[in-house]
Amino acid sequence: MSSVLSGKRGARRRYPPDRHAFPAELQRGLYEAIFRRRDIREFKPDPVPDDVLARIIVAAHHAASVGFTQPWDFIVVRDLERRRAVRRVFAAEREKNAAQFSGARQRQFRSLKLEGILEAPLNLIVTCEPERFGTAVLGKVGIRDVEVYSTCLAVGNLWLAARAEGLGVGWVSIVRNADLRAIFAIPRRVIPVAYLCLGYVEGFPAQPLLESAQWAERLPPRSLLHFDSWDGQASGASAGLADLVQSAAIWRGIIPATAADDLE
Ligand SMILES: Cc1cc2nc3c(=O)[nH]c(=O)nc-3n(C[C@H](O)[C@H](O)[C@H](O)COP(=O)(O)O)c2cc1C
Repeated sequence: MSSVLSGKRGARRRYPPDRHAFPAELQRGLYEAIFRRRDIREFKPDPVPDDVLARIIVAAHHAASVGFTQPWDFIVVRDLERRRAVRRVFAAEREKNAAQFSGARQRQFRSLKLEGILEAPLNLIVTCEPERFGTAVLGKVGIRDVEVYSTCLAVGNLWLAARAEGLGVGWVSIVRNADLRAIFAIPRRVIPVAYLCLGYVEGFPAQPLLESAQWAERLPPRSLLHFDSWDGQASGASAGLADLVQSAAIWRGIIPATAADDLE
């Protein structure tokens, strides 16, 4: 306690607001993992060492979870027969997905590679067991899907840790949970949240594939900001923040200027 006191007896030392901040190189590591993470659909066949896999699973397990329920499980899938079965489900679901689009958009959809189920040395299913500790959950009243939200945070952690390890991850949602349950003997009370393909890569593209293929664009962060209500536009004191979210200047000293320019 005495360390927070200095100068005149009883006067509190004024700490800078960032006294708990990571040193610059650790901050940079985190932001680089965030900005350089990509969804990956092409993999090298090289195996993923167990210690690397163990680290990213433990990183996932340290995600926040409602009521500290830790509703996730991880099914490590190497078996080729089961993966072939998932690939068949993907092919059928992809047709249904294609039917949502028409004309050139549908042709473009068909040209996109949207999974690496068989090429990847490893698939991983992250599941969610909503009532693992019963129906009474601290933090769950009106919002019923909070365990699924928690599981998605675990996937986010895993995705970032994998990027830091140089490991690509691709999320395949063009599947059916009923089929995943059947193929992997997943009980009905458990929800398959994320079917992931994992492996080393030739490279991590600078942009999302769907951006470079001109399927979609990253929205300007400024356009996503609201102030005090859905209708609240940036004005007065809030105008500064609205400008900053699109300014390379906020990254000065944290990530290289060239990378920061891409974020403007
Ligand atoms: C819930 C979820 C489901 C996804 N499903 C697929 C999928 O089935 N196939 C695919 O190619 N990418 C899938 N993606 C990846 C997105 O297309 C990708 O995250 C997005 O285009 C942005 O690219 P980035 O992850 O490289 O930044 C999925 C991502 C999420 C979060």
